[in-house]
Amino acid sequence: MGKVAVGLTMSLDGFIAGPNDGPGSPLGEGGERLFAWYSGGDTEYALPGTEMVFVVSPQTAELLREAHGRMGAFVTGRRTFDLANGWGGNPPLDVPTFVVTHTVPEEWVYEGSPFTFVTDGVESAVEKARAVAGDGDVAVGAASIAQQCLRAGLLDEIHVDLVPVLLGGGVRLFENLGTTPIELERTRAIEAPGVTHLTYRVVR
Ligand SMILES: NC(=O)c1ccc[n+]([C@@H]2O[C@H](COP(=O)([O-])OP(=O)(O)OC[C@H]3O[C@@H](n4cnc5c(N)ncnc54)[C@H](OP(=O)(O)O)[C@@H]3O)[C@@H](O)[C@H]2O)c1
Repeated sequence: MGKVAVGLTMSLDGFIAGPNDGPGSPLGEGGERLFAWYSGGDTEYALPGTEMVFVVSPQTAELLREAHGRMGAFVTGRRTFDLANGWGGNPPLDVPTFVVTHTVPEEWVYEGSPFTFVTDGVESAVEKARAVAGDGDVAVGAASIAQQCLRAGLLDEIHVDLVPVLLGGGVRLFENLGTTPIELERTRAIEAPGVTHLTYRVVR
């Protein structure tokens, strides 16, 4: 069975988006800075399922290729889905995508849709994602979903692309977690231009 792993790009002060994110500004004020590393290198990496081509360092391209190759399903939250406008129907990793929400957007429910809307919580979403991922990993890509997965003991791994910027406000990745320490073991750290790729195992 694969891992359940959150993977997000974060500022040094802990934000995955700047303040006031919304339809015209999906990553909030200043948040675009977080993704400068996608174009800061010399090696092309085509994001599966999209026409996007990143230009990153060779070590980052290798890391992305490996991580994306293992990915069997994606779990995200309704805000991320809405802000991305459902990625125009093509979720970025070209894998079945499970959106945790309270209400199903019927316009996105159609024969062959890559999206499954899950209204009974993150445990159910992760279970459904695991079932389709098989031996592949389940990627978790939203702050509130990652937090709920951590609290429920569902996360095996945390991958953070740490960017040397202080955003000062916005959407925090690590909050609402209570005060009981969650132990992590660092399993990988890769220095690349403009970003440090950090991987931690969640110790249970
Ligand atoms: N830096 C990065 O790598 C990165 C990557 C992805 C996203 N982002 C950013 O992250 C932000 C979004 O993250 P977020 O944490 O604010 O929102 P989110 O996790 O994407 O979505 C939260 C929403 O999901 C639904 N939801 C969450 N838990 C639920 C549950 N247990 N049951 C039913 N529905 C549930 C609720 O929506 P409803 O009540 O409306 O259904 C809730 O408001 C955006 O700014 C986005 O641009 C950054």
